[in-house]
Amino acid sequence: MRNKKTVIISNRLPVRVERRDHELHFIPSEGGLATGLGSIYQQEGNIWVGWPGFVPENEQEEAITRAKLAELNLVPVFLTEEELQGYYEGFSNEVLWPIFHYRLSYAVYNSDNWRTYQEVNRKFAAVVNEQNPSDKDEVWIHDYQLMLLPQLVREQHPEIAIGYFQHIPFPPDEVFRSIPWRDELIKGVLGADLVAFHTYNDSQHFLNACTHLLGLPIQNNCLHVDGRSVYAEVYPMGIDFEKFSELAESAPIQHRAQEIRNYYKDRKFILSIDRLDYSKGIIERLQAFESLLQEYPDLREKVVLYMLVVPSRDTVPQYRLLRDEIDRAVGHINSVYGINEWQPIAYYYNSFPVEELSALYVAADVCLVTSIRDGMNLVCKEYVASKEHTNGVLVLSELAGASKELLEAIQVNPNSIDQIREALRAAIAMPEEEQRERMQDSIEIVKKFNIRHWVKIFFNRLHEIKTLQKQEMAR
Ligand code: G6P
Repeated sequence: MRNKKTVIISNRLPVRVERRDHELHFIPSEGGLATGLGSIYQQEGNIWVGWPGFVPENEQEEAITRAKLAELNLVPVFLTEEELQGYYEGFSNEVLWPIFHYRLSYAVYNSDNWRTYQEVNRKFAAVVNEQNPSDKDEVWIHDYQLMLLPQLVREQHPEIAIGYFQHIPFPPDEVFRSIPWRDELIKGVLGADLVAFHTYNDSQHFLNACTHLLGLPIQNNCLHVDGRSVYAEVYPMGIDFEKFSELAESAPIQHRAQEIRNYYKDRKFILSIDRLDYSKGIIERLQAFESLLQEYPDLREKVVLYMLVVPSRDTVPQYRLLRDEIDRAVGHINSVYGINEWQPIAYYYNSFPVEELSALYVAADVCLVTSIRDGMNLVCKEYVASKEHTNGVLVLSELAGASKELLEAIQVNPNSIDQIREALRAAIAMPEEEQRERMQDSIEIVKKFNIRHWVKIFFNRLHEIKTLQKQEMAR
């Protein structure tokens, strides 16, 4: 009998259920979090709680899903269409997402959606409770969809160790103040013992919100909440470095990368990969690429922008609008500048397997990341990890969390079309030796601060804080 179990909780489970031809399919996620936490939740006794990504049609489907997921140590929280609409689309993605990405005008405040967000957070808490956690256990809650959950778990289990990690930015308190329910949200998060972010600025913004809005006493990064200590800290997330570097070196990927290069006739190959999202600066990137073709006509026919946009949240109106806007911008550039032998942009609205992504990373001369705001951004780290043996240049937004680590990338302000254009030009012209040197520095960082390291130091710190708290209580 183990004396401690770990419960991981996130909106989505690391396995997605899909109904195809009247059958349920269980599809494991390739995501960074799933990989990083794989070694934790797969251990006997540990579990991961979350939404399985579909709405069962009947009790039988629910029972099959529950049983199949149980074999993988996964516990589903089933949500109805109405719950998803209010909690996920309405509140998480139409209030929290835009506000936390500094897009105040995109927020849609609706008290019914707020009520549903509360109810669904309570539903998650009930599922956690059904797992009979003891005060010796530890719980790690992920992201903005579950901001109320730390407090809900704390109410039931006063001594349990709770970590909360926010993967998206935390805005300055005056921006956060726009949300009518801001106090409830931070009180919810403060149920945790350790509240963590990817960057120092995000942690400072969170601390400011706690002191300015709730008037909580603070000492360095430690808040005093009803006699408890809550720490806000910074743990920049890494990727599975080995996976990407090994894939990049494998013969099939090398072969596929060469095919891609041949297909594009060895033109300078600029790669961008994102989820469909207005925080990613996709329109600005297209404008900069057009500006490159306008200002430097000699580059026409010599470059290709390969742009992969992964479908996401297409039930949310802002995302549908963005998709149309991208279609128009790509169509405009290709029709104005394209000729028979050359299309400036190869645009895909699709999701590709990791092997194809790896081949694209290997093939790409430049990887272009222009997020207007991004908690971290893992694409740029995946590109770096794929470049141990081929050259390449990373152009990176200074407003993505990763910019704090990847100092050798060409950094740009993503709101400046001129800066992106000039960075692209410099990247295309960069001597091979400089490319190698700069990439080598980035590789070292991405290799060292990989996903396993991130998981390890987070848990170590959570245990340390728990020990500290016990010592304080004993005094
Ligand atoms: C971001 C968020 C995650 C979210 C992911 C995909 O990375 O930080 O919490 O899961 O986007 O978005 P989705 O809405 O499809 O889960």
